[in-house]
Amino acid sequence: MSSTSESHGADALGADSLLSLVPVVPVVVIEDLAHAVPVARALVAGGLPVIELTLRTPVALDAIHAIAAAVPEIRVGAGTIVTPGQVKQARDAGAQFLVSPGSTPTLLAAMADSGLPFLPGTATVSEALAVLEAGFSEMKFFPAEASGGAAYLKSIASPVPAARFCPTGGITAASAPSYLALPNVGCVGGSWLTPADALATGDWDRVSAFAAEAAALG
Ligand code: 3PG
Repeated sequence: MSSTSESHGADALGADSLLSLVPVVPVVVIEDLAHAVPVARALVAGGLPVIELTLRTPVALDAIHAIAAAVPEIRVGAGTIVTPGQVKQARDAGAQFLVSPGSTPTLLAAMADSGLPFLPGTATVSEALAVLEAGFSEMKFFPAEASGGAAYLKSIASPVPAARFCPTGGITAASAPSYLALPNVGCVGGSWLTPADALATGDWDRVSAFAAEAAALG
């Protein structure tokens, strides 16, 4: 699932496009910093060497830093980027990619200026067109299920062929294949691989099993 775009930013990675790394990007909410490194190792063990840490908890930036330092075999990124200031914080913490739930011209410029690959969030055709106009063809589709799901993305594949998506939000192991079958979807994102109870109980084998199941969707 390689990018065919000639635009810049995330697409400059070519074969290393964010949409082409893994079929499922684990979206992880870390409440306890001690969980960061074990959960990253569990994902790698299951065959998913990518992790998106949401910037929604006080320890998120420290978790990114800890994972970047201790688990070099995983690509760690920052999600829930909503301000230009968070772009700098995430980069300084060691984030290797950025994901935002929505897009504004200011946020797009900040993410592009970071030099990191990124997925700007979109939920409508007009938003996708705006991101394409800014020069980026790879984007997050969020919140995927609430915004029309796989049927929506299927409907816009023909009229907006240049856009390629990582749908995220409400996706499960059961619904992921319907997205991954679409020509304009490179990967999906989701938190189902790392449920809060598995992290709270240190059930890393369960996380690895979910990761292996997700990796097999590729
Ligand atoms: C998010 O940013 O919360 C992601 O979209 C994950 O959504 P999910 O928890 O519904 O998988």
